[in-house]
Amino acid sequence: MSGALCRVELLDAAHDRAAFRSGSEPLDRYFQQQVTQDIRRRVTACFVALTPKNRVAGYYTLASTSMTLADLPAATAKKLPRYPTVPAVRLGRLAVDAEFKGRGLGGALLADALDRACRSEIAAYALVVDAKDASAQAFYRHHGFIAMPSDPLILFLPLLTVRP
Ligand SMILES: CC(C)(COP(=O)(O)OP(=O)(O)OC[C@H]1O[C@@H](n2cnc3c(N)ncnc32)[C@H](O)[C@@H]1OP(=O)(O)O)[C@@H](O)C(=O)NCCC(=O)NCCS
Repeated sequence: MSGALCRVELLDAAHDRAAFRSGSEPLDRYFQQQVTQDIRRRVTACFVALTPKNRVAGYYTLASTSMTLADLPAATAKKLPRYPTVPAVRLGRLAVDAEFKGRGLGGALLADALDRACRSEIAAYALVVDAKDASAQAFYRHHGFIAMPSDPLILFLPLLTVRP
């Protein structure tokens, strides 16, 4: 199944989280044990990719964040107003079930997150991602994300480059 055959919805109680296995134990544990508490407390939103049979094939989380201007690459910072921070949207977690990897779903979920951030009426300069390791970092770099000089496992993509 390709990413295009899945639909993306906000996570709700009807979705079966127990069977989800991405191969990353912390990402699976978060999805199974913690995400609903974070949603209740309004500190994250979680979106799931569902197969036509309603199986969860992938998920990602989004929340508001800010980026410290001094942490951005100099070439980026000089194009921004001299505020201490700029607003952003954080893609805290992104995971695809092992059975669905390598079929375009991770890329489709990333595109969905970027589209949601661009469509919001609340301004955000960039989508910021936390890469859990070098492989995840390579995935985001492949999609045009720029590493933060202070921590290369945090990457960002200015939303103006997605939708002018
Ligand atoms: C990283 C992950 C989300 C990718 O999902 P996926 O469905 O396998 O990826 P896709 O099939 O959509 O790949 C999309 C594109 O990214 C590329 N890609 C995938 N994984 C990559 C990697 N680790 N490094 C570089 N490029 C990668 C693919 O080659 C593909 O390129 P193309 O569009 O030019 O053909 C998935 O492997 C996963 O869940 N990993 C475990 C959790 C994780 O690392 N999450 C990342 C955030 S912490």
